[in-house]
Amino acid sequence: MSEQEVLYKVADGVANITINRPAKYNALNTSVVTTLRELFKKAEEDDFVRTVILTGAGDKAFAAGADITEFKGKDSKTVRPLAENGQELCKFIEAMSKPVIAAVNGFALGGGCEIAMACDIRYASANAKFGQPEINLGIIPGFGGTVRLARLVGLGMAKELTYSGDQIKSDEALRIGLVNKVFDSVEALMSGVDVLAKKLATKPGVALNLAKQSLNNTWENPHQSNLKFEVDVFCKTFDTEDKVEGVDAFLNKREPTFKHK
Ligand SMILES: CC(C)(COP(=O)(O)OP(=O)(O)OC[C@H]1O[C@@H](n2cnc3c(N)ncnc32)[C@H](O)[C@@H]1OP(=O)(O)O)[C@@H](O)C(=O)NCCC(=O)NCCS
Repeated sequence: MSEQEVLYKVADGVANITINRPAKYNALNTSVVTTLRELFKKAEEDDFVRTVILTGAGDKAFAAGADITEFKGKDSKTVRPLAENGQELCKFIEAMSKPVIAAVNGFALGGGCEIAMACDIRYASANAKFGQPEINLGIIPGFGGTVRLARLVGLGMAKELTYSGDQIKSDEALRIGLVNKVFDSVEALMSGVDVLAKKLATKPGVALNLAKQSLNNTWENPHQSNLKFEVDVFCKTFDTEDKVEGVDAFLNKREPTFKHK
């Protein structure tokens, strides 16, 4: 593992994970994906971390996809670990108990777009570009792109993007629901992401995690069982110290201080 290829910093309850191969537009080679898996696990296990920000170094890219140099000479058998590594990373981000915000500056293509889609919230700069260009290489997305894109933007739009390989700009990504918010500059993006991350870090962690699980359920489980799950975890929040604090703070007209218990 090369530590320099991915940077990790924790401050004020927020872990910042930065893909750091700017000269290669932060292309996701195997060691980057494996290191990302390790660092997301580290963030999950660190009680001081309440929120995670994922971004890419430099002014060109969040990540321009899987590292295409690793595709040469691979066949259906030898490429499988590469796809599974990426899928495991995306599944981990999606399932981890803490919210993950993608700060997208520049290209988010292929695996870059797929990892961004596994995050809970996507903020982008005006110069960001999104796409699943795999079709132009004679292949298809393999880090979960067909599945998550269809769920985020609808089947028709996902098919057009995946079949054409076209890139879309931030304003179009915002219009179709691929990103939550667009900022004029990179500085405004990073400051907007920081504000959101710090805000989420103050929210009651148990409730936030249960809300994430309940929202994620709507992606895969039957409607009735999701409604039952929501009742169950709603009740569970009533056994937390944070519920006592939150309700007391409201009734006494003061700001709550949550302990994530
Ligand atoms: C993103 C892109 C449009 C930018 O184009 P550009 O501004 O002309 O920049 P370049 O193509 O010169 O890319 C800059 C460097 O990053 C590298 N790079 C960019 N994306 C890469 C990728 N996915 N894998 C490996 N290297 C990549 C380029 O090879 C180049 O390296 P070099 O300077 O050593 O030659 C273009 O690089 C591209 O199409 N990348 C591949 C996107 C893709 O198909 N992703 C899905 C992969 S499954």
